Amino acid sequence: MRPMELLQAPPPGPSPRRGWIDSLGYYYRFYTDPIAFVGNRFEEYGDIYYAPSKGVGLYVLRHPDHLWQVLVKDGAKYGKTHTAFALLERVLGRGLLTTDGEVWRRQRRMLQPAFSAKRLAGYAEAMVDEAERAARGFYAGQVRDMSREMMELTLRVVSRTLFSHDVSGQTDAVAGAMDTLRRSIGVSEVLPSWLPSPGRGRLERSVDALDAIIEEMIDKRRGASEPPTPPDLLQMLVDAVDVEGDGGRLGDREIRDQLVTLFLAGHETTSHALTWTWYLLAQHPEVEDKLHAELDRVLAGRAPTYADLDALPYTSCVFDEAMRLYPPAYTLARRAEEDASIGPYAVPKGSEVIIWTYFTHRDARWYPEPDAFRPERFEPEAAAARPKVSYLPFGAGARACIGKTFALVEGRLLLATLAQRLRFELCEGERITVEPRVTLAPKGGVRMVVRRR
Ligand code: HEM
Repeated sequence: MRPMELLQAPPPGPSPRRGWIDSLGYYYRFYTDPIAFVGNRFEEYGDIYYAPSKGVGLYVLRHPDHLWQVLVKDGAKYGKTHTAFALLERVLGRGLLTTDGEVWRRQRRMLQPAFSAKRLAGYAEAMVDEAERAARGFYAGQVRDMSREMMELTLRVVSRTLFSHDVSGQTDAVAGAMDTLRRSIGVSEVLPSWLPSPGRGRLERSVDALDAIIEEMIDKRRGASEPPTPPDLLQMLVDAVDVEGDGGRLGDREIRDQLVTLFLAGHETTSHALTWTWYLLAQHPEVEDKLHAELDRVLAGRAPTYADLDALPYTSCVFDEAMRLYPPAYTLARRAEEDASIGPYAVPKGSEVIIWTYFTHRDARWYPEPDAFRPERFEPEAAAARPKVSYLPFGAGARACIGKTFALVEGRLLLATLAQRLRFELCEGERITVEPRVTLAPKGGVRMVVRRR
């Protein structure tokens, strides 16, 4: 379709909210159960709907063709500034996740080497080592909150591999700060900014706690006589030259913003993906048996290595399918920095877009019986038959996750190491629901009974 044939009227959608009572009602319904709320709207309006908010046009999407258009084909027309993430930006500052344009390009180039295949092979050993250490701490018959266990494990992995930092003794502080952060962001967004809110106070305090840990890391490294070889990501930042500024070293603030971003983006998502995987395995013994058979056949009791990953395709499929059902980054947000289009609709500059990965992943057109847990969907032939961008746990296009391969290697190795020795059963009466906040968390954790295999 040529641009002149584009429909200038927006797609169908709910009527605009009138006044603050209407707005509060909307926020209440949205925040109580965002999945049901948005799901109903897709049912009513189809693949794309328009729900302007606070004077900004908002396009809500789930169709792979629309996703491809926004994230890949016209990716350069969109930026990351988005009203929904204003608070997150306050926490992350100008890190890789939130910047745009030349600043983003420069940061991405600078950080990319830390995620090269060669580096990943090096990280793999530390990942398995941390998983083995965690496995030794699980005792048969114990009840453990897997959400918390996985959060601690992935935090240890990211700190050790990227920052050569041992977070022992600090995991509670970091996990606590992250938790408050997650909660406060949702609550604070609902309330008008002039209203003092306890959530906002807690948010400030948790940011301070995180900042203190990060400052200590930077100071320690600046004072270190022997930096790690090869240089880890923290060293790369400490050594980096600020080409945009005066050509001097990056300031503490810039380093801090990258570290907070990588801390946050680098462990919480992988942690949720693994927790959901244990939860799904516990409910699907036939999948668990097949996973165990592959691990026993390929590894025969020894620890997995980076080189084993290709020989563990079913393990990969299990992890991929868990992220289909529970994509940790369940929505993506963009703002049109110039006039654009989505399908037949014109999208004026300044409009915002929300992509609901969650609904793309649970669409029966691409995934028959979408709620069923079937790792076989990710066997190469089946995956190739689906439209591009019908699976996007790591996003798509230039802004796709820089840590994608890191996370896939980590997820598979942690899963393989733990599942070789342990099983986790859901506690009696435990009912798990999703809590869609910054990421898709299991609400209140997931208590499971540890069993030795
Ligand atoms: C299962 C684990 C993970 C998931 C599901 C995930 C998901 C995502 C998604 C969907 C995006 C794109 C956001 C957008 O388009 O707006 C993203 C970006 C990003 N992720 Fe991840 N991620 C994971 C693990 C990691 C890890 C391990 C790291 C770092 C150690 C990381 C660091 C980042 C960063 C820095 C960005 C911003 C990239 C850019 O804009 O250039 N992520 N992630």
